Amino acid sequence: MIEASSLTKLYGDSRVVDRASLTLDSPGVTAIIGPNGAGKSTLLSMIARLLPIDEGKAFVDGLDVTRTAGDELARRISVLRQENGLMARLTVRDLIGFGRFPHSKGRLTAADHAKVDEALAFLDLVPFADRFLDELSGGQRQRAFVAMVLAQDTRAILLDEPLNNLDIRHAVAMMRLVRKAADDLGKIVVVVLHDINFASCFADRVVAMREGRIVVDGPVDTVVTEETIEAVFGLPVMVREIEGQRTCLFRR
Ligand SMILES: Nc1ncnc2c1ncn2[C@@H]1O[C@H](COP(=O)(O)OP(=O)(O)O)[C@@H](O)[C@H]1O
Ligand SMILES: [Mg+2]
Repeated sequence: MIEASSLTKLYGDSRVVDRASLTLDSPGVTAIIGPNGAGKSTLLSMIARLLPIDEGKAFVDGLDVTRTAGDELARRISVLRQENGLMARLTVRDLIGFGRFPHSKGRLTAADHAKVDEALAFLDLVPFADRFLDELSGGQRQRAFVAMVLAQDTRAILLDEPLNNLDIRHAVAMMRLVRKAADDLGKIVVVVLHDINFASCFADRVVAMREGRIVVDGPVDTVVTEETIEAVFGLPVMVREIEGQRTCLFRR
């Protein structure tokens, strides 16, 4: 369970996240959408304790993230960051193994290795398991980071732009995996997406941010409307229902 209450991040006198409140207490997929600079990454980073919170509180399973030991938190919430430091001389298998550290304290057991193998297979990375990260394409590397997050095997998973660099086949596979994690494994998944049609197709709930604030939060059908998408992005859009799915179309 994730509870963020009035979370605020200040840089100088600009509130890049401004009193954002969000509760996720049941399995499902929640998409966060919003323009560049809206505060999506900053919000997720505060929830995952990657950034200090300036005002407000964040709890994971009732634990205040600012007062909880790192490994305790890491067994409950995992996060794919938008910018991953380049750990070039690391193999894919080693990187994924890092996801097991909060469980194994550095000495991987047979069960940990099995989780690593599972994550390799899920992300279509078996052929690349022993390659170094700097020997991969952007999309392969992106999948390796997601595999590390999955191997951490937490109930709450935050994915900041997981579709970056992915071709359409791997993007769809990634979102199906996210759905499966929610539906079959009971995970609470939050995913930052730029493609509203992916959000509309795969998410249960959509949270839209603009200028640091959460401006709408609700089921796909209530958020993916012409009025809301136009207000969030400041861009005219047509929304049509195709095969029961809200779809955004743009004029050239
Ligand atoms: N370290 C920083 N110092 C100052 N401003 C920052 C810093 N990090 C992010 N920002 C600003 O905070 C805002 C929100 O950034 P971010 O959360 O990355 O947005 P998003 O993920 O929605 O694109 C942006 O305007 C960005 O320029
Ligand atoms: Mg971002």
